[in-house]
Amino acid sequence: MKSLYLDIVDSTNKWAKEHILEIEDKTLVYTFNQTDGRGRLKRKWLNTGTDNIYASLVLKPSAVMKEVYSNLTQYLCIVLAEIMEEYGTLPEIKWPNDIKINDKKVSGILAEGVISDNELKGIILGFGVNLNTNKENLVSIDQPATALNIEVGKEIDKNEFLKKVYDRFCLMYDEFIERGFSLIRDDYIRRANFLNKNVSVKVFDKTVDGLAVEITENGALKIIDKNNKEQILLIGDIL
Ligand code: BTN
Repeated sequence: MKSLYLDIVDSTNKWAKEHILEIEDKTLVYTFNQTDGRGRLKRKWLNTGTDNIYASLVLKPSAVMKEVYSNLTQYLCIVLAEIMEEYGTLPEIKWPNDIKINDKKVSGILAEGVISDNELKGIILGFGVNLNTNKENLVSIDQPATALNIEVGKEIDKNEFLKKVYDRFCLMYDEFIERGFSLIRDDYIRRANFLNKNVSVKVFDKTVDGLAVEITENGALKIIDKNNKEQILLIGDIL
């Protein structure tokens, strides 16, 4: 595992962004003590103690942006879900990349790209996993939260978990870049907990309501809105 361990840091994503030129492709930047974690849609990712994971995987697939890169969060989501299944849980996915167990969020992913001089310098796939948290320390930011140790009923080895994530991610990464979302579409749909349900999706400062009917070939969410019109959402967050 190519990795960079930080004893304490404000945000692994921010740190990776600042050091992007020095970090090699497929390096895992991680800490167990993150003081100012960031989430999607300008949310925060709180520090729930030093037995949890705060990490950013730095990828440098090419100097030009490709459509498939926007699906990397969904690929990581499947990797995390499969590992959580190995621990005996039944994780579900909330589009695009939240993982929930028993309807409570256990992990979140935040992807950021670094572009300068018209070149993609790298992609930072940040992920936080509530691995070992006391119920009292669990903080619900946008939705109720849980931790893997609570769901499994025993402490989880954080270094072992991180290595599993790294190894599994690297295993199919090249194939994923080549074949795109279709490689994992079935695995994604099998765990999707929002299909055939009425959903409200936040897209920037708008909310779109409708029936979630499909995950398309490229990982977008298709919904039928109240006016019976089909809408394909490439970005957003189910509320
Ligand atoms: C979300 O659910 O909104 C995404 C949360 C992503 C949190 C991780 S923790 C490690 C990395 N560094 C950050 O500042 N954020 C991500």
